[in-house]
Amino acid sequence: MNDIKIFSPATVANVSCGFDVLGFCLDSIGDTMVIRKTERRGIHITKIEGHDLPFEAEKNVAGVSALAMMAAAKPDFGFEIEIYKNIKPGSGIGSSSASAVGSVFGINELLGKPYDKTQLTYFAMKGEALASQCEHADNIAPAIFGGFTLVKSVEPLEIIQLPTPNDLFAVIIHPQIEIKTSESRALLPKQIPLQDAITQWSNVGSLVHALHTSDYDLLSRSLIDVVVEPHRSALIPHFDAARQTALANGALGCGISGSGPSIFSLCYGNNNAEKVAQAITTIYAETNIPFEVYISKINTNGIKIVE
Ligand code: HSE
Repeated sequence: MNDIKIFSPATVANVSCGFDVLGFCLDSIGDTMVIRKTERRGIHITKIEGHDLPFEAEKNVAGVSALAMMAAAKPDFGFEIEIYKNIKPGSGIGSSSASAVGSVFGINELLGKPYDKTQLTYFAMKGEALASQCEHADNIAPAIFGGFTLVKSVEPLEIIQLPTPNDLFAVIIHPQIEIKTSESRALLPKQIPLQDAITQWSNVGSLVHALHTSDYDLLSRSLIDVVVEPHRSALIPHFDAARQTALANGALGCGISGSGPSIFSLCYGNNNAEKVAQAITTIYAETNIPFEVYISKINTNGIKIVE
């Protein structure tokens, strides 16, 4: 096999209370990438469609993660990468992670799968760091492992796969403004009150338990973020109205997707997801902000080969 086409999915990180540690994978939106083995050594990005991104491998997250893997694997050949970018950069649904994951997943397949999923996460984190100025794996891990993931530790890297309740659907609304992850991180406080920390780790623990037991009511009561959302929500126009509307229409929870501006809701069943999507659409339709809405089942498989 000399080339491979893959679908690299969008993801939701943080999942309200799990800043930098929790994430889940979407299946209705993602990038397509083609990876091709070449005699020419090194990594060469030969095509980018959809969004304006750098072709130099050292400046492109897909290139940087691929170079990290090449430095470890040291093959005597190289790879070309084509990127068909559907996920808008700065959208909050793991655009840079999808690129970073796509190249290392594809190259690993063409090398005969020498690396496991945790090692792929490690290489992809090097690319993600180019975009966010910080190594974190909460978008990368769900794209690679599928479903819900918990980043137990970055150093050493340890990823825990969590179960996905069957009837869980996500609604994503993406107001078409760009929020840079690095800037959205810079405004967060370095210290938090003990009482907020207690509330937050209680919610993370109960959310993990809710996923294990398919306890949708507990899941709903756990999807609360008292640490990060209060600081970031001001960056997202109409966030409070969107959240209140989602909850009033039966969403289990609603919060900022990654570092924003996308907003995610988790819903019980597709019917409720449709209802929540319609209700939030009504909120944004009354503004002059362009937006996109996606409904997605939780993608329990993660990144996949399409050809
Ligand atoms: N955990 C990250 C953040 C996700 O919220 O900044 C975005 O990369």
